[in-house]
Amino acid sequence: MTEGNRVVTLARRPVGMVEPDDFSIEDAPLPEPGEGEFRVKVSHVSLDPAMRGWISEGRSYVPPVKIGAVMRSFSVGVVDASNHPDYGPGDAVTGLFGVQHYAVSDGTRVAKVDMSQAPPERWIGGLGMPGTTAYFGLLEIGKPKESETVVVSAASGAVGSIVGQIAKIKGCRAVGIAGGPEKCRAVVDELGFDACVDYKAGNLAGDLRAACPDGIDIFYENVGGEIFDAALAQMNLFGRIPVCGMISLYNATEPQPGPYNMRSILVNRLTVRGFIVFDFIDRYAEAIAQLGTWNAEGRLKMREDVREGGVEAFPEVLSLLYTGGNNGKLVLKL
Ligand SMILES: NC(=O)c1ccc[n+]([C@@H]2O[C@H](COP(=O)([O-])OP(=O)(O)OC[C@H]3O[C@@H](n4cnc5c(N)ncnc54)[C@H](OP(=O)(O)O)[C@@H]3O)[C@@H](O)[C@H]2O)c1
Repeated sequence: MTEGNRVVTLARRPVGMVEPDDFSIEDAPLPEPGEGEFRVKVSHVSLDPAMRGWISEGRSYVPPVKIGAVMRSFSVGVVDASNHPDYGPGDAVTGLFGVQHYAVSDGTRVAKVDMSQAPPERWIGGLGMPGTTAYFGLLEIGKPKESETVVVSAASGAVGSIVGQIAKIKGCRAVGIAGGPEKCRAVVDELGFDACVDYKAGNLAGDLRAACPDGIDIFYENVGGEIFDAALAQMNLFGRIPVCGMISLYNATEPQPGPYNMRSILVNRLTVRGFIVFDFIDRYAEAIAQLGTWNAEGRLKMREDVREGGVEAFPEVLSLLYTGGNNGKLVLKL
C-alpha cells in the first residue's frame, strides 16, 4: 500500500497564544525525491518555544513561515528513498523537516545520527539543538569559573536543565528558577542543582537571594520579564548574562514593561549578550560529542517529554510550552 503524507500548515498568524485554528492539518501526496535529494520518514518532531516567533510577522533571525506553508520544525527520522550520494535508505537523520510524516531534503543542515547511542527523541533534545544551545550559551558567553554561582531560568526545561548540569560539571553553584514545587524538587533531586527557586511562590527576589548567598555571577536567561529583573538586581561585579530566550514575552499582544534594574548593567559592568545557536554552527559536532560523553558517563541527565497523538495533536502540544505544561524536552511522536 502506498502511504500518503499528512502535513501541518500555517493557516493564519496567531494573535496571543497559539490556537488550533492557526494551523491546518491536511493530507498530501507522498513527496518524491528528485536528483540529489532523499526522502525522510519523520518519527519525532521537536516542539520549540521559537515556533511562536517563526509564525509571527516581523524581523527576526529567520524569515517567518509563510501562510499555507508546512510548519517549520526540527525533526528526526529515517531515510526511506534516496537519489543522494551521501544518504541511503535506513540512515537516521535530523534536520528542519517540518511537521509532517514525510519530507524531502537535499541534505542542507541535515546531520546523520546514531540511534544505537541514544533514542530518536534525544537527537532533537539534549543531543540536538537545545543541548548545543545550553552548551555554547553557558560556556562561550557565560564563561563559568569554578565556584561561581550560575542561575538559569526555565530550569526544568530542555535548555535550562542542561545549563545547570554543565554548570555543576564546571564546579559552579547551580541555581534554577522554575514554576511550581514539583518542578523545583525535580531540578534539585533528579538533576543535581544546588537549589531551585519557585517563581510562582510569590517571593522571587527574597527566595533568589536566599539561594544565591554570594550573589549571581552568570544569569542564563530563558524567560525575560520579572525574572530577568529580579536576577539583574542580584548580579555580581563583572557578571555575564547570556540572553538565550524571553519566553514570557512570546505571546504578548501589548508592549511589556521593564526590566527596571538596568542600572545594574552599568554599576556591575555586566556583559549582556544575546545569541542564537546557529551562531555556533561550525562547532555543533564538538558540542554534541561532549554532551554525548557526559550523558554516557551519567554526569548529564537528559529528560524528554514525548507526547503521542500524531500531527493532529501539534497545536495543543505546542501550547504546553507557554503554560509550563511540559516537563523536559517536549517532543511529538508521529
Ligand atoms: N537562542 C537560541 O538559539 C535558543 C535555542 C533554543 C531555545 N531558546 C530559548 O530557550 C528558552 C527555553 O527553551 P526550551 O526549548 O528549553 O523550552 P522549555 O524550557 O523546555 O519549555 C518552556 C518552559 O518555559 C517556562 N515558561 C513558559 N512561559 C513562562 C512564563 N510566562 N514565565 C516563566 N516561565 C515560563 C515553562 O516552565 P515553568 O513551568 O518553569 O514556568 C515552560 O515549561 C526559550 O526562551 C527559547 O526560546 C533559545
